[in-house]
Amino acid sequence: MKIAILPGDGIGTEIVAEAVRVLEVLDLSFETESALVGGAAYEAHGHPLPEATLKLAQSADAVLFGAVGDWKFDTLERSLRPEQAILGLRKNLQLFANFRPAICHPQLTHASSLKPELVAGLDILIVRELTGDIYFGQPRGRRLSPDGAFEGQQEAFDTMRYSRPEIERIAHVAFQAARKRSKRVTSVDKANVLETFQFWRDVMIEVHAEYPDVELDHMYVDNAAMQLVKAPKKFDVVVTGNMFGDILSDEAAMLTGSIGMLPSASLNAANRGLYEPSHGSAPDIAGKNIANPLATILSLAMMLRFSLNQPEAAVRVETAVTRVLESGLRTADIWSEGTQRVGTREMGSAVVAAVKAA
Ligand code: IPM
Ligand code: MG
Repeated sequence: MKIAILPGDGIGTEIVAEAVRVLEVLDLSFETESALVGGAAYEAHGHPLPEATLKLAQSADAVLFGAVGDWKFDTLERSLRPEQAILGLRKNLQLFANFRPAICHPQLTHASSLKPELVAGLDILIVRELTGDIYFGQPRGRRLSPDGAFEGQQEAFDTMRYSRPEIERIAHVAFQAARKRSKRVTSVDKANVLETFQFWRDVMIEVHAEYPDVELDHMYVDNAAMQLVKAPKKFDVVVTGNMFGDILSDEAAMLTGSIGMLPSASLNAANRGLYEPSHGSAPDIAGKNIANPLATILSLAMMLRFSLNQPEAAVRVETAVTRVLESGLRTADIWSEGTQRVGTREMGSAVVAAVKAA
């Protein structure tokens, strides 16, 4: 089994380094190979997703990904921006099913911006479709003025589209995930305005016929955004499109206290996957040893469970994280009065020690 390690930019290199230390101490004899991706790859090779990096990801059984992006690349043409690396990997590896759990760890209830009683015990699974929607719709572009000058631009457009098979497969993923939980799915759409999402709703209802044991309800995205902060515990599995899922998963993440705690998995039909924290590259805190490595370490646990068939190792890692939180260690993003503030590296070391002790 081979794991591709793609740390990327910003805090990506620091947090992935800690997850790799945890992987090593598990002693599982996986081969690992690292490569540059995102802005780092652009600076070294002139492209955010070099051929060699893509090949490595394609040949690996799983990819551990940090984060990409930095403001210094904001003026690059779109095809060369760091974000194109993650979008390219998702598309090329057909990683259509994105799992973003939003779990409120009992030790962190007070780190949430919502009242503790609203989030205590929160456990939502957002299933975001990841390779369709307005992110990848054609045609797209800017209508340039006759001389091609940006200043003369009169219009820009992106096409929102979903095909039936794309909706069907994410629907199956969501209903099957719900079967392992409380058997409830909320499909989030905008069927009252958008043809794409009326179609989404119709196909969801069709596929649901195969899952009579699972409850399905539908919610408009604006209402879902409101309900998430009003009564988040009413949700269990939320399935939605690429664009709405991008927004709602950040919102749900924050309910749990810190986006620095949340892992994610992006899987293809063969359960091969890319695992990354739900947060970004945070260039403002990069290189300062203050980023929280736990989301990446928990992403490693998801990798062990979903792609590498090592459920016991996954539990060991998750239990170690719980122990470390119980011991009161906190990175800056989750620190509160009475807990002990530590850096990225120290947090990683604490998890390594807890894994060893388990
Ligand atoms: C995410 C990110 C990405 C997205 C960006 C970096 C392309 O926001 O994974 O949620 O929009 O999907
Ligand atoms: Mg996002």
